[in-house]
Amino acid sequence: MRSLDWVNEAVEMVDQTKLPQTIETLRVETVADLVAAIKRLSVRGAPAIGVAGAYGVAMAAALHRPDVDRGAFDAAVASIRDARPTAVNLARMVDRVLPLALESAESALTEAHKIRDEELQASIAMGDRGADTVIELVAASSGPAEAIRAMTICNTGGLATVERGTALAVIQTLHERGVLAEALPVETRPLLQGGRLTTFELQQMGAPHRLLVDSAGPFLLAQGAADVVLIGADRVAANGDTANKIGSFSLALGAAHANVPFIVVAPESTVDMATASGEAIEIEDRGAEEVASVRGVAVAPNGTDAVNPAFDVTPVGLISCLVTDKRVVRFDKGEVL
Ligand code: MRU
Repeated sequence: MRSLDWVNEAVEMVDQTKLPQTIETLRVETVADLVAAIKRLSVRGAPAIGVAGAYGVAMAAALHRPDVDRGAFDAAVASIRDARPTAVNLARMVDRVLPLALESAESALTEAHKIRDEELQASIAMGDRGADTVIELVAASSGPAEAIRAMTICNTGGLATVERGTALAVIQTLHERGVLAEALPVETRPLLQGGRLTTFELQQMGAPHRLLVDSAGPFLLAQGAADVVLIGADRVAANGDTANKIGSFSLALGAAHANVPFIVVAPESTVDMATASGEAIEIEDRGAEEVASVRGVAVAPNGTDAVNPAFDVTPVGLISCLVTDKRVVRFDKGEVL
């Protein structure tokens, strides 16, 4: 299943806010609706919002012709670029398509298709390279890697990319190779991408799994319940510090305590050499309401304020290695990006 694609002059996406109860296709025909879809997480995950942003610029070129009203076009492109700040893929893909959109809407669309296809190829490469790396690291830390238990967070599957995914692509490949004992996704409060989306995708691939509440992750690692932790990334800084879904840092601390390999899986399009370290990464705050209620049901008294960082930064010192579509960087062996 493709998370999103360009169909008859519009972007069509699986509306991820409706999963797992309903598999609904959302057709987006305007830039304003695309920006709203990105903001409310109908489409989400760093590579997927990069592809959505690329198609958004192509749409902007067709609907707000830069040769006719450059101001309206620039405003439309800026609204896409600024829809979410943490994942570098969104701004990067918008910036990549922009010069082509100034030439023609057709050239912009061709580039957006290219980005979609590159992300798909990247997922396949990460799955293979990541599975090899997991097997190597698990064998070195806890013996023969024949029944691997992999903990993960958020959703890093096909829904977060175009197909297959990043960290979840690795888990899928381990399953296809017959060496996955179980996946252990944490539910990922407040929007439950682990509980709603990752379990949905694991079920579809027929991979054994058990769902955890977020706070069980580090404790279960300390108890020896997992052989590896695999996460995706929204932005990898030049020094290797990695922004990913809130809760990733807690898992990294738990993994370090338990001496379990902690692996980041992300395409090269998520590596941001222009950001020196994690301190410079803007972390999206999504406001109090998502914390004080769960799917429309209040879980705190009316008027409760909340802090809601959508992401955290795991320092490179807690990351064993980064697997991309092109390389493996062993931070645990002193390698650098
Ligand atoms: O807020 P989300 O659901 O967009 O957050 C997504 C994540 O944090 C993913 O782990 C990350 O984008 C990598 S996905 C391939």
